[in-house]
Amino acid sequence: MRRKLVAGNWKMNGSLAQNAGLLDAVRGGMASIPNVDCAVCVPFPYLPQAQQRLAGSSVKWGAQDVHQLEKGAFTGEVSAAMLRDFGCSHVIVGHSERRAYYGESSRLVAEKFLAAQKAGITPILCVGETLEQRENGTTEAVVAEQLDALIQLGGVGALRNAVVAYEPVWAIGTGKTASSAQAQAVHAFIRQRVASHDSQIASGLCILYGGSVKANNAAELFAMPDIDGGLIGGASLVADEFLAICRAG
Ligand code: 13P
Repeated sequence: MRRKLVAGNWKMNGSLAQNAGLLDAVRGGMASIPNVDCAVCVPFPYLPQAQQRLAGSSVKWGAQDVHQLEKGAFTGEVSAAMLRDFGCSHVIVGHSERRAYYGESSRLVAEKFLAAQKAGITPILCVGETLEQRENGTTEAVVAEQLDALIQLGGVGALRNAVVAYEPVWAIGTGKTASSAQAQAVHAFIRQRVASHDSQIASGLCILYGGSVKANNAAELFAMPDIDGGLIGGASLVADEFLAICRAG
C-alpha cells in the first residue's frame, strides 16, 4: 500500500510575515495527521524560513525548480546542491507553467530531474495536457512524451522512489478539477507505461494529481486506486484548507 503524499506548491506567493503563520499552522496541524506525508514547495528566498520553522516536524519542504547543472556561470539559477544545503527533500520539475512560460522541453526537465536525484532530492515530475490536446484526443501521447523523455535519459530506475504529478493544464488554477475518473484513467496510463519497463518500480511509484484540488474534492480523488495524493496550488496557501486536504489522504 503506497502512502499518500500531499505537496503544496506556493508558486510566486508569500512574504516572510504571511509565511510564518502558514508554516506554523501546517506544522501544528500535521502533528495529528501521522498517516500522510506532507511537503511545501516554497519560493527560493523562503527556504531558510521553511527550514527554520519546519525542522524537527513531520512536514518536509522543497523548491519549485532547479538548474540541471551542478554549478557555473548561470546567472540567476539555483543548483540542486544549494537546495540540499537548505534541507530540501523535494523539488518540482517541469511544472506546466515552466514549460509554457520558459520554454522548458521534456529533455531539459529530465536533466533537472536527474540533477535533483543526484543531489539526494526527490524530484516531482509534472506532466499533463492542455485543453486543446485533451480535445484533440492526444492526452496520452502528450503525457507519454513527457514521461518517456526521462526514461530515455535516466532509465526506468530514475523513477524508483520518485514522484510524478499529473496536472492537466486546463485544471490548474481554473476551479475545473478533472473528475476522479478522468484523473484515474491518466494515472493508470502512467503506471502502466512505467510497468512496461519495470512492474516493481511502477507499483511503488507515487503519482499525485494536481489541478484545483480543494478540501471538498480531495477525498474522492484520493480514493482512486492510482491516485497517491495531490500537488496543491492555491489551496496550499490557506492552512485550514490545506490541512483538510491532507486529512483526506
Ligand atoms: P491549483 O491547485 O491552484 O489549481 O494549482 C495546481 C498546481 O499547479 C500545483 O502545482
